[in-house]
Amino acid sequence: MEVKTSLLDNMIGVGDMVLLEPLSEDSFIENLKNRFEHNEIYTYIGSVVISMNPYRTLPIFTPDKVEEYRNRNFYELSPHIYALADEAYRSLRDQDKDQCILITGESGAGKTEASKLVMSYVAAVCGKGQEVNKVKEQLLQSNPVLEAFGNAKTVRNDNSSRFGKYMDIEFDFKGDPLGGVISNYLLEKSRVVKQPRGERNFHVFYQLLSGASDESLKKLKLHRDFSKYNYLSLDSAAVNGLDDAANFRTVRNAMQIVGFMEDEVQSVLELVAAVLKLGNIEFKPDSRSNGSDESRIKDKNDLKEMCELLGIEQSVLERAFSYRTVEAKSEKVSTTLNVAQAYYARDALAKNLYSRLFSWLVTRINESIKAQGKTRHKVMGVLDIYGFEIFEDNSFEQFIINYCNEKLQQIFIELTLREEQEEYIREGIEWTNIEYFNNAVICDLIENNKNGILAMLDEECLRPGTVTDETFLDKLSTICAEHLHFESRLSKNSKFLTDHSLPHNCFRIQHYAGKVLYRAEGFVDKNNDLLYRDLSQAMYKANHSLIKQLFPEGNPAKVNLKRPPTAGFQFKASVGTLMRNLQTKNPNYIRCIKPNDKKASHIFTDSLVRHQVRYLGLMENVRVRRAGYAFRQPYEPCLERYKMLCKRTWPHWQGPAREGVEVMMSALPVQAEEFSYGRSKIFIRNPRTLFFLEERRRQCLQDLATLIQKIYRGWKCRTHFLLLKKSQIVVSAWYRRYAQQKKYQKIKSATTVVQSYTRGWQARKLLRELKHQKRCEEAVTTISAFWHGTQIRREYRKFFRANAGRKIYDFTIQRIMQKYFLGLKSTMPSMSPIDKNWPARPYLFLGGVHSELRRIFHLWRCKKYRSKFTEEKKAVYEEKLEASEIFKDKKALYPSSVSQPFKGDYLEINKNPKYQKLSIAMEDKVLLADVVNKINRANGKGTARLFLLTKNSVVLADQKTGQVKASVPLPDLSSVSVSTQSDGFFALKLKEGSASAVKGDFLLSSEHLIEIITKIHRMGTRAADREQLDIDISDEFLVQFKHDKVCVKFIPGVPKNGNSVSCKRKNNRLLEVSVPSTA
Ligand SMILES: Nc1ncnc2c1ncn2[C@@H]1O[C@H](COP(=O)(O)OP(=O)(O)OP(=O)(O)O)[C@@H](O)[C@H]1O
Ligand SMILES: [Mg+2]
Repeated sequence: MEVKTSLLDNMIGVGDMVLLEPLSEDSFIENLKNRFEHNEIYTYIGSVVISMNPYRTLPIFTPDKVEEYRNRNFYELSPHIYALADEAYRSLRDQDKDQCILITGESGAGKTEASKLVMSYVAAVCGKGQEVNKVKEQLLQSNPVLEAFGNAKTVRNDNSSRFGKYMDIEFDFKGDPLGGVISNYLLEKSRVVKQPRGERNFHVFYQLLSGASDESLKKLKLHRDFSKYNYLSLDSAAVNGLDDAANFRTVRNAMQIVGFMEDEVQSVLELVAAVLKLGNIEFKPDSRSNGSDESRIKDKNDLKEMCELLGIEQSVLERAFSYRTVEAKSEKVSTTLNVAQAYYARDALAKNLYSRLFSWLVTRINESIKAQGKTRHKVMGVLDIYGFEIFEDNSFEQFIINYCNEKLQQIFIELTLREEQEEYIREGIEWTNIEYFNNAVICDLIENNKNGILAMLDEECLRPGTVTDETFLDKLSTICAEHLHFESRLSKNSKFLTDHSLPHNCFRIQHYAGKVLYRAEGFVDKNNDLLYRDLSQAMYKANHSLIKQLFPEGNPAKVNLKRPPTAGFQFKASVGTLMRNLQTKNPNYIRCIKPNDKKASHIFTDSLVRHQVRYLGLMENVRVRRAGYAFRQPYEPCLERYKMLCKRTWPHWQGPAREGVEVMMSALPVQAEEFSYGRSKIFIRNPRTLFFLEERRRQCLQDLATLIQKIYRGWKCRTHFLLLKKSQIVVSAWYRRYAQQKKYQKIKSATTVVQSYTRGWQARKLLRELKHQKRCEEAVTTISAFWHGTQIRREYRKFFRANAGRKIYDFTIQRIMQKYFLGLKSTMPSMSPIDKNWPARPYLFLGGVHSELRRIFHLWRCKKYRSKFTEEKKAVYEEKLEASEIFKDKKALYPSSVSQPFKGDYLEINKNPKYQKLSIAMEDKVLLADVVNKINRANGKGTARLFLLTKNSVVLADQKTGQVKASVPLPDLSSVSVSTQSDGFFALKLKEGSASAVKGDFLLSSEHLIEIITKIHRMGTRAADREQLDIDISDEFLVQFKHDKVCVKFIPGVPKNGNSVSCKRKNNRLLEVSVPSTA
């Protein structure tokens, strides 16, 4: 929303007429029109508010608006009545200055509405509380009551106030309302008896007849029909937009709130009814015997009803309408009243009755709303007085009203000038005299005590003799002839003699607001305001408390022969009091203007407005205000508003505001005489200068707006970004929480599963163990039961037949076994280990035992056999056993050797003398002596040699001579090679590098090969210091012959030389041995 800091912001036309440039009536009206068309109904002239009647409801009086204007400076917002009310209320509350709000303008211009707006604004912004609210409500509710009795529909206004009203609202030091006092001025009472065409009587008559219940109407002896009452004009009884019945209820309610008692309300209504009845009383002429004219009441019914209502004796009133008693000193003269006089008396009574009732109402309201306590209160006065009136036919009332307005204008000029002057002095600005029209001269024409119009009227009224309106006009024309503002055909001023616009029975006054022509007729009467004493006395006699109060002069005990003060005199006095009152207060002006005569919205009639502008003296007002300086503003707001115009003051000025403004102004191309520095304000002479400042400000604001926009956008983006960042953190935090929660739940459920499995497993294990334990316990029980059972059974078995079977079985088995073993003893085979015999198995079930016994027996038999062996025989068998270990299943020759005992010494060399030498040569005992064939290396032929084996060596000797051919120590032997076949070839292989190896290996052949090899091997085995001799059994082996290695290859099954083994040298490297098959 746009924020206003000055009324200069977004102004339509100019908000303050002081700034109008150029200033002329046309531009003034044009500005008003322009603003009016844009719904800007308020415009300022300095601190004066001009209010145009919009004739429609505008949305500018809402509670929001009240808040908007609350505590804001006057020039901060668009012109508004609220700004003025706020200013007045605040200076009353804060500066202890009594205030008055003067609302002027012509009928229908909106004065009453304006006064209500002021009151409602003050009520809204001042303090609250039960008591305060009650006071506020009473003050506000006094309006509908007074409007019902004092307002009427006129041609100009459907709710025209027919009285002047001044209300003092009293506040305490906090600004809370305490109460109020209302003063009323000159009710237009002639309206009670007669209304101009198209107008109505006071609202209350119509409201009563429309709104009261049938019952209360009956009580008041009234009919609902308006046409039944002479005082009610019928042509405009119903007014558009006015709901009399509803308003009656509002008024009754308001009276109750204000504090009227029920019987008071009833009395008031009775008086209203009495006025209506009074209007219906009609007279007819009657002649008396003495020839004088008399009048008689036509129909006495209304009179009777009226008398009943007011508690008056009918005859008393009837007489009062027929006679007039004039008392002079001690004399009392009664004259009869003719019909005209009777009607005059009736109307006078009606007018007086009503106007006094109205004054009583005001007094009664004042009683209710008066402030309690005697301390001095702060006061805010609101003056809603009838505006200047220029009708076609202007009478005494208009004259009085216009006089009042003259006075108000005078006070306005005085106070405005005074205020202006005071401000200049306060601010230390030099005062220049201002030319203006002072209407004091007109006021003087009217109110001068010696020859003023009012004084002359009074004089005329009090003068003995025939007094008529004509005599009054004559007098006026004579005395005021020279006055510049008085015009009359009767004055000898030749200027007016031929002025046909000025009738003879009229006089014209040049008021400050224009010329007004007054018809002299009725002036004297109205000023006299005569009510025959007979009537007031008749009223006083009434048995009705209110009526009695209203006519105190009717009290015969207090007969006052002095004439009551004239209406003019009274009015002048009350206006004087009012003026004095106003002069003590700080004035605030609302000048109301009516835009058209049609009570229509949106219509702006130039001529009508021009007329009002003129007579309200608004141009004058502007000129006075602009006389010195058109515009002024305190330094702080001025600097605040224009500081952007100078680099030194923007954005902040450190220091006094005045200096800031001076620096700023000096930086601008404005001439020095265009402005002045006051103490707290800067004064600008021409509006032009202000507009120049405004224009510069507007340009600067555009630049600033761009800057602000830039900064704002940056800020917005930053904020947005930070928000996003923050949100992102929140989201991620939530997400992480969520994810962790999920993970945790997963882990938890997994843990639960694992736990449940573990527990299940543990439980099952435990169960198993428990079951096992239980089973064990059961088993123990069972076993012990069985055991005990067994024991018991065993113990008692012998006593049971059932065990006989088993016993017989055991016995039989025992018998069989006995027989078997005894039988075996007798059929035992021989002790020869080779005996294969063994008795047959007698029973199948003894199969295992039988064969086991056979094995045991055989082992035992072998052992027995072995134990019989001698040491020699044992050695022979050991040799045989060794031979078997070496050759069995490896060499085909072996089986044939098994049966041959190992003789060892086949040659018996000790006995054979042939070998005696040899025997002696042998150092060790010969373990084996045999003849072997030594295979010739060259051709494979064998040569017989003696082969001797001792403990330590192998000796080869010549068979014939016994000469040792070769002696090989056993340690020199590396290995012995034989074939797998049945041949007797064997090769003794010598260790390389040994002494015996020089001649090479020996390839020999023997029939006792098995024995020889076994014994050689045995020697090797026995000797602890020797290595085991290798026995190589294969059909192909290498033999070292001197230097050559010859391969000896055995070919089986190829008989070449019969059945004997033949050996043949095939080549240098091969020696082939053919072995015949043994089969
Ligand atoms: N501010 C307003 N907003 C809307 N309508 C308004 C406003 N002021 C006045 N009016 C209308 O104009 C009519 C006349 O106004 P109001 O009674 O205040 O005039 P007035 O100046 O008091 O006249 P009078 O001198 O005859 O009493 C009101 O009844 C109302 O319809
Ligand atoms: Mg009014």
